[in-house]
Amino acid sequence: MRIKIKEILHAKDPSSLIGKDAHVAGWIRTVRDQKSFAFIELNDGSTLANLQVIVDASLPSYASLLPELSTGASLTVSGTLVESPGKNQALELKAASLRILGSCDPVRYPLQKKRHSFEFLRTIAHLRPRTNTQGAVLRVRNALAFATHLFFQSKSFLYVQTPIITGSDCEGGGEMFRITTLDDSKDLSKDFFGKPTYLTVSGQLEGEILASALSDIYTFGPTFRAENSHTSRHLAEFWMIEPEMSFADLKADMECAENYLKFCVRHVLEQCREDLEFFDQFIEKGLIQRLQNVVSAPFAHIPYTQAIDILKKAPKQFEFPVDWGTDLQSEHERFLAEEYCKKPVILTDYPAAIKSFYMRENTDGKTVAAMDILVPKIGEIIGGSQREERLDVLEKKIIDFKLKREDYWWYLELREYGSVPHAGFGLGFERLVLFATGMENIRDVIPFPRFPGHAAF
Ligand code: 4AD
Ligand code: MG
Repeated sequence: MRIKIKEILHAKDPSSLIGKDAHVAGWIRTVRDQKSFAFIELNDGSTLANLQVIVDASLPSYASLLPELSTGASLTVSGTLVESPGKNQALELKAASLRILGSCDPVRYPLQKKRHSFEFLRTIAHLRPRTNTQGAVLRVRNALAFATHLFFQSKSFLYVQTPIITGSDCEGGGEMFRITTLDDSKDLSKDFFGKPTYLTVSGQLEGEILASALSDIYTFGPTFRAENSHTSRHLAEFWMIEPEMSFADLKADMECAENYLKFCVRHVLEQCREDLEFFDQFIEKGLIQRLQNVVSAPFAHIPYTQAIDILKKAPKQFEFPVDWGTDLQSEHERFLAEEYCKKPVILTDYPAAIKSFYMRENTDGKTVAAMDILVPKIGEIIGGSQREERLDVLEKKIIDFKLKREDYWWYLELREYGSVPHAGFGLGFERLVLFATGMENIRDVIPFPRFPGHAAF
């Protein structure tokens, strides 16, 4: 039976494998022809490191195989694991039989063995998962998804699925993708759903329904925003984790978010060591230390009003001016996390007017029980709040925000029938992957990025 290269190279006790037969498969990274034998560096994506395969010239059909052994070709090998004389790996595979599955033209293959820019690699997204960086990104991404389920399941949150097709603009930003089956969509009553529908920008409102019966839930699904943002932090299609907790206030919300972020970071520090060392060496020097600092110290807390003060006194020229009541730009968020706090910081109690209608009004009447978590290098990674559970206050907010009451009848009824204090947040999954890997651009931490003008593959 075939085994993954990871099981060989990361075996608990490699010496116990010496002399054992193994059957592996993968893609050739490099070949070195040493006349009486050839070295193949084989990778199957299960781990960063390659398995060294030695192909002796005495192997039958060696002469006809050799020209086919080129970078990018796929093959299966059976042989014996032997102690490696090289210092990079404990074991290597001495081939007894080798079969090329798919050859690869070494001249035309776009992924030649050299450094490519991330921009170029995006244009060959069908091949870029075979690069060291993309492989490491996708393994860390996988570990973060698993950590997400581990964390919430261990706290008895139910994993629920909220709709992708929806009629409601949860965030009120109006940045939604319309769904239609009509060529000329003037008469909406003839459209598939008989009314305007969109791809969801957030599962929160439906999440609140489910939390109003099941206590604690979380979603983990695709999210769509038709923002015309060309930044390294925005995608048109991204994944979001949205926990929602009943019988919870803003304080419980912030605690949950901080614990969840730390759990994820701890998980990758423990489970993805080889990949993190790679990022530390080639992508962000000091990454592992930065992540260890995140786990070991409490996050900072600053109310919005105080943050505005800090920014006004900052020894720094910002592109966008700050004043009480304005939304913070990424330059302000990054200053607070990177330079002022030098660690993740939770900003709370934003002005009601710059946040969504559903956030709970504070006693000052001007601010809401909102919280954003800002982290160095990225800015906002989490946005959350306590929700308005008081029917009369919510009704007033719907009027103030010029929303249509009839669109929210069910949301209001949740406040009429057994309303409870509740709170939740949303974490942008790709921003978490950026945070954990030190990668610079969000387009390089999702296999097939969608952003304005780009929906290839
Ligand atoms: O702050 P946002 O808009 O909050 C919500 O959608 C709430 N309904 C969440 C909740 O309380 N349940 O988005 C949440 C997070 C942001 O903090 C950011 O990390 C990420 O989603 N995000 C994006 N990530 C990539 N590309 C985009 N265009 C993003 N927009 C938001
Ligand atoms: Mg936000």
